[in-house]
Amino acid sequence: MSDSLLITGAAQILTLRGGVPRRGSSLSKLGFIRDGALLVRDGKIVAAGPRAQVEKRAEARRAEKFDVGGRVVLPGFVDSHTHLIHAASRAEEYELKIQGASYEEIARKGGGILNSAKKLRIATAEALKRRARAALEEFAAHGTTTVEAKSGYGLDVASELKILGLHRELNAEQPLEIVSTFLGAHTVPAEFRSLPDGAERYIKLLVEQLLPEVVNNRLAEFCDVFCDRGAFTREESKRVLSEGKLHGLAPRVHAEQLSHTGATRLAVELEAASCDHLEQVNARDIWALANSRTAATLLPGCGFHLGLKQYAPARKLIEAGAIVALATDYNPGTSPTMSMPMILSLACTQLRMTPAEAIAAATINAAYALRREKRIGSLEAGKQADLAVFEVEDYREIPYYFGMNRCWMTMKRGEIIYMRD
Ligand code: NIG
Ligand code: FE
Repeated sequence: MSDSLLITGAAQILTLRGGVPRRGSSLSKLGFIRDGALLVRDGKIVAAGPRAQVEKRAEARRAEKFDVGGRVVLPGFVDSHTHLIHAASRAEEYELKIQGASYEEIARKGGGILNSAKKLRIATAEALKRRARAALEEFAAHGTTTVEAKSGYGLDVASELKILGLHRELNAEQPLEIVSTFLGAHTVPAEFRSLPDGAERYIKLLVEQLLPEVVNNRLAEFCDVFCDRGAFTREESKRVLSEGKLHGLAPRVHAEQLSHTGATRLAVELEAASCDHLEQVNARDIWALANSRTAATLLPGCGFHLGLKQYAPARKLIEAGAIVALATDYNPGTSPTMSMPMILSLACTQLRMTPAEAIAAATINAAYALRREKRIGSLEAGKQADLAVFEVEDYREIPYYFGMNRCWMTMKRGEIIYMRD
């Protein structure tokens, strides 16, 4: 059998080739090919282009053929913001929210992140892994091939290390790529809240005990902080992110989700890889992001799940020239979804992004937000053969259909990891 694979029969291939990152009008450039073909060898793309051109290559003639039957092919989604490891849903809080309680009220009463931390601390690593593996299969079934995963429901040394260790094991044991982020600064844990200077003491523990363990054991690549009302202040966030950076962990920030704290400008100042949420940004924040290399990652699943009216100003960010990316923010409190296509639907209807912009934001710009744009995020010669095939005739139908899954096949490094029955 040949080691090369020739993929043909695509009504449309969205290559997403071209300059990275995408800003402004370049966000809608999909590198569209009608009746295209892809040649894959050893998990990498050898050629992507019009079928007639790719088929001329001697290697293409010898390759095993795979016809995708008139469907649409695009790069696998890169989900650059998830809280993959958690013990259980928070359906009990969902019901309270529907009855009128706010996310912050629930958190103040010991619900929210603290509720998830309580559940995670008593969960075994096996149970957590089983749940995460099931979630990863669901991500793959919706066309996602790379998933960033944050710790942050442990909030003590052993539990945070348990989560980060699982990121590593899962990365090795199943096909999706897991990008690990240390989010010890998700909230101040319950046992520190009753102490004088509790936040200060918890940060000391994070910086002096946890961070060196994380770095020495190479358990994370990024460091994140939830900088918001009820979580960490701008100054506290700066301390954690700067220490992380000194230890070689690139910053990412949960910024301006519930209130305006100045987290966006902190992210820009620290040259963060990405600054996420941004529902409460102001004109100066937008300007700062537009003039930076920090990605602006929007998470419309949160507004949808919490039933909020306020979404991030995507149009203003795009028009100003910010590097807009999209992610699920898969987590039990604000965005329990593994579906990037659903996020694209929300990006179109709620953020007023076009289908093309949403697709670029969920692939090439998301790869940039994870500092992997040289390897993933587009279908170009030399890149990893990470792709999704959708049961649609036109790419605009990917966000157009919602609440149902049109993904037909997902491939990671040239291997089929999901195929609809
Ligand atoms: O991204 N905002 C902070 N972290 C999560 C929610 C965490 C939770 O409620 O469990 C988010 O929305
Ligand atoms: Fe988050």
